[in-house]
Amino acid sequence: MPAVSFQAISKTFATPKGPFAALNQIHLDIQEGEFFGLLGPNGAGKTTLISILAGLARASSGRVLVQGSDVQTDFANARRKLGVVPQELVFDPFFNVRESLRIQSGYFGVKNNDAWIDELLENLGLADKAHANMRQLSGGMKRRVLVAQALVHKPPIIVLDEPTAGVDVELRQTLWHFVARLNKEGHTVLLTTHYLEEAEALCGRIAMLKAGRIVALNRTSDLLQAASGSMLQFKTDTALPPALAMVARVTGRIVQLPANDAAEIESHLAGLRVAGVDVHDMEIRRPDLEDVFLQVMSGTSASNIPLDNIASAAAPGRPKQGVVLSGGSEDTPVPSVGAPL
Ligand SMILES: Nc1ncnc2c1ncn2[C@@H]1O[C@H](COP(=O)(O)OP(=O)(O)O)[C@@H](O)[C@H]1O
Ligand SMILES: [Mg+2]
Repeated sequence: MPAVSFQAISKTFATPKGPFAALNQIHLDIQEGEFFGLLGPNGAGKTTLISILAGLARASSGRVLVQGSDVQTDFANARRKLGVVPQELVFDPFFNVRESLRIQSGYFGVKNNDAWIDELLENLGLADKAHANMRQLSGGMKRRVLVAQALVHKPPIIVLDEPTAGVDVELRQTLWHFVARLNKEGHTVLLTTHYLEEAEALCGRIAMLKAGRIVALNRTSDLLQAASGSMLQFKTDTALPPALAMVARVTGRIVQLPANDAAEIESHLAGLRVAGVDVHDMEIRRPDLEDVFLQVMSGTSASNIPLDNIASAAAPGRPKQGVVLSGGSEDTPVPSVGAPL
C-alpha cells in the first residue's frame, strides 16, 4: 500500500475571471520509506496539492489516500499519519515553545510526550528556546517550531512545503540532518523546495509540476541521466556577446552555457575568444538537477513523460536514505534558481 496515493486529483478555483484549474488530473503514488520531491515553479500547484493531502482544501475531483485512509471520508485517521509543515508561518503568539508543542500533542491525543518533545527541541536547535514566547522568535526559529509541531505525534509521513524558503544555512543543515535521519528510520518524506541542490541531494524520486500537471516523474538519478548535453561553466567580469548572452544562464559572475556536443562547446569558446571575454575557473560538467528542471520546464527535455505513461514510470527505485548535505560551513552556496522561475 502506498504511503500517499493521489488519484486523479483536479482542483478548480472560482476566480473573478472565471474558473481556474490549479491542478489537472494528478496521479501519483508515494511509497513507504521514500524521500520524494515535488518540484515546480511558483504557481505550479504544489501547495494546493499538499493542502488537499492535509485536508485543508477539498479536491474538485479525485481522491487522496494516506496509508489507505481517505482524507475526506476518514479524515482523522489520514491526518494522524501526516506531519505537515506549512509554507506559511502560522503560530499562536500566546504560548511558549514547549507549551505550543504540548498543545499540539494534545490535539493528536498523545499524552506524556515530553521525552519526544525534548528530543525535537534538541535536534532542531531549539533547546534554549523552550520557554521563549512564540512571538519573540525570529522567522527562522518560528520555522523550526513549525517543524517540531508537525513531528510531535511521530507521524509516519512527513510533508514539508518549502521548509527552507528564506531560512539561513544553519537551519537548512539542521533540518536536513534531522529529516534524513527520520527517513532512514522509516518515515516517508514528501518535500517541496525551490532549492534544487537540496532536492538532488535528498530525494530518491522527483515529480515536476507545471501549471497543475505532472510533466516529469522519475528517480532522481534517472532524471539526471536523461538530461542531454553538458554545461560549460566559468566566471567572468566581462559582458557576453549577444549571441551567447541569449542562451546563457548568468548568476552574478557565474556564467553557464548549455552545449549539446563538443562542436557547440568549441563554438562557445570561439565566441568568447573573439569577443575578448575574460574567462576564469572554467569547467565542463554534466547537467545537474537545476539544468534538468529548466529543460523540463521549457519543454526541451527528454525527461518529459506523457501523462498516460505516468503510472508505469511511477515504479519507485530504492529510496535514497540517510543522505545529508555535505559541508555545513557558512559559505555553502545557495542554489540559484532565480530568474528562470
Ligand atoms: N484560494 C485560491 N483561489 C484562487 N486561486 C488560487 C487559490 N489558491 C491558489 N490559487 C492559484 O493556484 C495556483 C497554484 O498555487 P499554489 O498551489 O500555491 O502553487 P505553488 O505552491 O506551486 O507555488 C496559483 O496560480 C495560485 O494563484
Ligand atoms: Mg507553494
